[in-house]
Amino acid sequence: MRLLILGGTGDAAELAARVVTIQGLEAITSLAGRTRQPSVPLGDFRVGGFGGVAGLASYLRVKQIDLLIDATHPFASQISFNAADAATEVGVPRLMLIRPPWEKGNGDRWIEVDSVAAAAASLHNQAQRVFLTVGRQELAAFAHLEEIWFLMRMIDSPTDDALVPAGKILCDRGPFTLNNERQILIHHKIDTIVSKNSGGNATKPKIIAARELGIKVVMVNRPAIPPGEQVNDVDGAVAWLFEKLHN
Ligand SMILES: NC(=O)c1ccc[n+]([C@@H]2O[C@H](COP(=O)([O-])OP(=O)(O)OC[C@H]3O[C@@H](n4cnc5c(N)ncnc54)[C@H](OP(=O)(O)O)[C@@H]3O)[C@@H](O)[C@H]2O)c1
Repeated sequence: MRLLILGGTGDAAELAARVVTIQGLEAITSLAGRTRQPSVPLGDFRVGGFGGVAGLASYLRVKQIDLLIDATHPFASQISFNAADAATEVGVPRLMLIRPPWEKGNGDRWIEVDSVAAAAASLHNQAQRVFLTVGRQELAAFAHLEEIWFLMRMIDSPTDDALVPAGKILCDRGPFTLNNERQILIHHKIDTIVSKNSGGNATKPKIIAARELGIKVVMVNRPAIPPGEQVNDVDGAVAWLFEKLHN
C-alpha cells in the first residue's frame, strides 16, 4: 500500500521513521517548503504545494496513494481542509494525527485569543517586552506596536522585504529545554509571551518557565479542523495503519 504523510511537524517525522520498518507499506512525506533547510524525514519525501484541492486530488490519483495521514501542524488548517476534500473526492482513507493542545494549569496567567491579530490587539498598553514565538509568517501583525520591544524566535530569519516589529531576532529550532527558556525570559526581562497553542513537548518548556516566573502568556487558540478520524500520537497512527494493512 502507498501512504502519503502530510508533514512539517516532529510527529510527521517520527511517523515517517516508524513506517519505513513496516512491511507492505511504501510512504512518502510531503513538506510545504517553508523552511530553508527543513529537517529531512526518513524515507521518500517531496517539497512544495500541490496546487489546492484539485492538485492534491490529482497527486493522489497519479501516485496511486491508498492511505493519507495528515500530520501537519494544528495551525496549518488550509492544507488539512484541502486534504479532507481531496481524499473524499478520490476515495482515499484519511487520518489526522493531531497532538492535544496544552491545558491551562494552576499558576498559569493565560490570556486566550482566537487569532494572531487578536493576540497583537491584546498587547496594546499591556506589555513592554514580549517574547514572540508565533513563527516568521506572522510577524507583520505585530509591526505596528512601536512602543513594545519584541524578542522574536523563529527557524529562519525573515526576508528583507518582511514587515518586522522592533526588537531582536533569534533563529533557533526546538526542542528547547526548561533551563534555556528560563534564561531567555530572565535575561531579556520578558513580561509577556505570545504563543500558538501548538501542544506537544518540544516547545512546552517556555509555558512552564512562564508559570514559574509569573509571566503572562497570550495563547492563540487553534483554528477549526475538518471532521474525520483523529489520533493524538504516533502510536495511534501506526495502529490505524496496521488496521488498514490487515483488513
Ligand atoms: N502554521 C504553523 O504555525 C506551522 C508551524 C509549524 C510547522 N508548520 C508546517 O508548515 C507547513 C505550512 O504551514 P501553513 O500554516 O503555511 O499551511 P496552510 O496555511 O495550511 O497551507 C497553505 C498551503 O501550503 C501548502 N502546504 C501546506 N502544508 C503542506 C504540506 N505538508 N505539503 C505540501 N504542501 C503544503 C498547500 O499549498 P497548495 O494549496 O498549493 O497545495 C496549502 O494550501 C505545514 O506543512 C505545517 O505542518 C506550520
